[in-house]
Amino acid sequence: MDAFIAGMPKCELHLHIEGTLEPELKMRLAERNHVRMPYRTVEEARDAYKFDSLTSFLVGYYESMNVLLTEPDFYDLATAYLTKAASQNVRYAEIFFDPQAHTSRGVPFDLVIRGLRRAVLDAERLLGIRAQLIMCFLRDFSAEYAMATLMESLPYREWIVGVGLDSDERDNPPVKFAKVFARAREEGYLITAHCDIDQPNTHEHIRQCLDVIGVDRIDHGSNALEDEELTAEIARRGLGFTVCPVSNGFVTSDMKAAEIRRMLDLGLKVTINSDDPAYFLAYVSENLQAVQEKLGLGRDELVQFERNAFEIAWLPRATKDAFLTELDEYAASA
Ligand code: ADE
Ligand code: ZN
Repeated sequence: MDAFIAGMPKCELHLHIEGTLEPELKMRLAERNHVRMPYRTVEEARDAYKFDSLTSFLVGYYESMNVLLTEPDFYDLATAYLTKAASQNVRYAEIFFDPQAHTSRGVPFDLVIRGLRRAVLDAERLLGIRAQLIMCFLRDFSAEYAMATLMESLPYREWIVGVGLDSDERDNPPVKFAKVFARAREEGYLITAHCDIDQPNTHEHIRQCLDVIGVDRIDHGSNALEDEELTAEIARRGLGFTVCPVSNGFVTSDMKAAEIRRMLDLGLKVTINSDDPAYFLAYVSENLQAVQEKLGLGRDELVQFERNAFEIAWLPRATKDAFLTELDEYAASA
């Protein structure tokens, strides 16, 4: 099964580029940028990645970003991820980035997006992997700052396929950003939002994503299954879920495999993704392996995850169809 997973053409739709900062690269960038780190070795840096909840994870996630300062830093970060993803036969990735995690430290938006964009173009040319960027708003900052970030993104509109919502969900409901997402929609951005696992008021937040924000996709979102009406509405709209099992197992005590099983059984468009692989120690193949082992999945079910992912990807129909054909050919021949 591991070999089948390794060879399968894959699509990753929930991946924070800042969450791919491996300790090795972090130490290299710290040295290059003369940033003082509280540890001297890669091992010490790795040991410092410790957490047991979304909130405690986010502390280390933001702290680590202090080494990201220049356009080449963002280029190197994204190139490292795309190289790793291509080695796992990820054929297409939609990559989240958190501009406010950088602009709030005085790092210009322009430099962040230019580095990421250059990496995406080079990876397509040199590695044959395709990718697009999704800009996330940090929900623990104000709606005004999110709106200012949206405005700042407009000169780069063609480089960004959509917008998302991430960071600490507690006390930061989707409705806080209603105007920001309405304006993003007017600008032609597609919309997704994190509905993190087991958060307070999760059902109300998912409902707001549907009725107030009008999301095109849901990131995580497995708590929707606890509410029949929510589940039915998501199914009716054909919305996909970007589920991240290994991440779930870190920020809660459960990878939510039973929920993934249920989504498959209900015919919901569930996909498997890595979220922050440098922190959760699992890229997309390892996430698929974890679910496969836990649920004893067969090849058809593994292929179904990728079929769902290419189907809900923010790509033109003809491009999706080309990837889906590649997937079908693999399933038929492997
Ligand atoms: N930022 C990076 N990873 C995240 C996650 N899983 N949830 C919310 N915000 C995030
Ligand atoms: Zn996430």
